[in-house]
Amino acid sequence: MPGRAFITTPIYYVNDVPHIGHAYTTVNADALARWHRMIGDDVYFLTGTDEHGLKIARAAEAKGVSPQAHVDEVAARYHQVWDLLDIEPDRFIRTTDVDHIAAVQSFLQKAYDNGHIYKASYAGWYCVACEAYYDEDELLANPDGGPGLDPIHERPVEWFEEENWFFRLSAFEQPLLDWYDAHPDAVAPTGKRNEALGLIRGGLRDISITRTSIDWGVPVPWDEGHVFYVWYDALINYATAVGYGSDPERFEKWWPHVRHLIGKDILRFHCVYWPAMLLAAGEEPPANINVHGYLLVGGEKMSKTKLNQIFPADLVEEFGVDGYRYHFLRDTAFGPDGDFSYEAMVARYNSDLANNLGNLLSRVATVVAKKCDGIGPAPRPDSPLAAVAAEVVADVTAAWAAVQPSAALEATWRLIRDANAMLEATEPWKAEPGPEVDGVLGDAIEVLRLVAVLASPALTRSPSQIWARIGLDGSPTDRPLAEVSGWGGYPGGLPVTKGDPLFPRLTAR
Ligand code: ME8
Ligand code: MG
Repeated sequence: MPGRAFITTPIYYVNDVPHIGHAYTTVNADALARWHRMIGDDVYFLTGTDEHGLKIARAAEAKGVSPQAHVDEVAARYHQVWDLLDIEPDRFIRTTDVDHIAAVQSFLQKAYDNGHIYKASYAGWYCVACEAYYDEDELLANPDGGPGLDPIHERPVEWFEEENWFFRLSAFEQPLLDWYDAHPDAVAPTGKRNEALGLIRGGLRDISITRTSIDWGVPVPWDEGHVFYVWYDALINYATAVGYGSDPERFEKWWPHVRHLIGKDILRFHCVYWPAMLLAAGEEPPANINVHGYLLVGGEKMSKTKLNQIFPADLVEEFGVDGYRYHFLRDTAFGPDGDFSYEAMVARYNSDLANNLGNLLSRVATVVAKKCDGIGPAPRPDSPLAAVAAEVVADVTAAWAAVQPSAALEATWRLIRDANAMLEATEPWKAEPGPEVDGVLGDAIEVLRLVAVLASPALTRSPSQIWARIGLDGSPTDRPLAEVSGWGGYPGGLPVTKGDPLFPRLTAR
């Protein structure tokens, strides 16, 4: 029976243009979606943009344009970058989409009708960049002596006083703990689950979920003049996209079988607030939340003010789309923080793509041309690589199931290394044509075929080229994995062509 995979990224704020941090989550989610499609699952892959709130309204004002014009422009930049990186979501949701506005209203109306939302006045320190209130003791000291700094952006907070609607989050401490208890694997890695549990056990206070100070937001259906706070609007995108409030059957099909991929900066919102909101509206919390660390540059978090942001286009130009995707998926394991360095990217490209994979292909094509008249021989059923291949397929499968693309690629490259080692040990380029040479070359072509299949979720372009060069029709993802992952799928007797190097060697600038 095919499984179901509803995979999401955060919806990104349109105050930034996408940098390699946003792309990190999105490339991981896209690759995971491609893997699930390949194993025959029913997949729905969602990304999008978060377009309401004070930060956006102020940015539009500063530019002298309407908020809608501003968000249209930045959302288009996200589209461009995702196109550049071969990101193919089933939907690019925008919080300004009409179906989303309706879904937010019906979702929160439900929580209100269930008695979990009440009115009170509120005063506190607010960080516009985070769109969040902070307690005094959460703030960093301000070296200039003014109000404290928010711990994320290190910018001075502002004092806000408003009559707000509040969500009775405090009532959900026990229900959340019970839910975490019953779903020990919902949040990964375990350290992040513990962090979420710590926040809940530390005590939850009710939170303000509406604003009257702005009108760039979703109107509160039961109280004119109020709009929902941006986070409460944003989180609901995951429900909107699968039919909440518009298509109950569709919602039933996908919810709560979701896998949220997020960065650790928004753990509290996804692992505490969102499950509580769902419970308040009478829905199940999300089945899976996978949290990753920060991609750092020179050991620091990227920020506009530090001038250390790196943008995908700068790297794609040099490394290609496959080089880009491979690097971030392979080099930065999903979970811990990772440090980006250009030198490391060049080194890994050269060793894994230019040398290991690129060389295997060009070597095999050269020797097949010389020793086999350009016709690829069939692999040996009893090849020593058959067992390695079976092990690799199992490891790759387990790695994707655990949302560890780096481990999946590491396993795949083990197979490439073993094939190269076999060629070096047997030196078919020096041997006389015959069954020995045919067997070794057939095995190597079979490895290329399997690698083309296994690398397809990560690399969107070169696997089809490899496929064509070993004479196969169609593409490596035309058939479900189970039908193409066994040893011996390459039939032999097909023309093998050399062509230009798939991954020309690079020298660091
Ligand atoms: O928080 N390293 O949007 P956002 C790794 N709109 N990942 C990074 C990163 C980095 N240096 N920088 C950004 C918001 N990210 C809300 C989300 S969801 C209902 C609403 C990625 O534009 C990472 O996924 O600030 C992080 O969680 C997300 O971008 C934050 O995006
Ligand atoms: Mg952010």
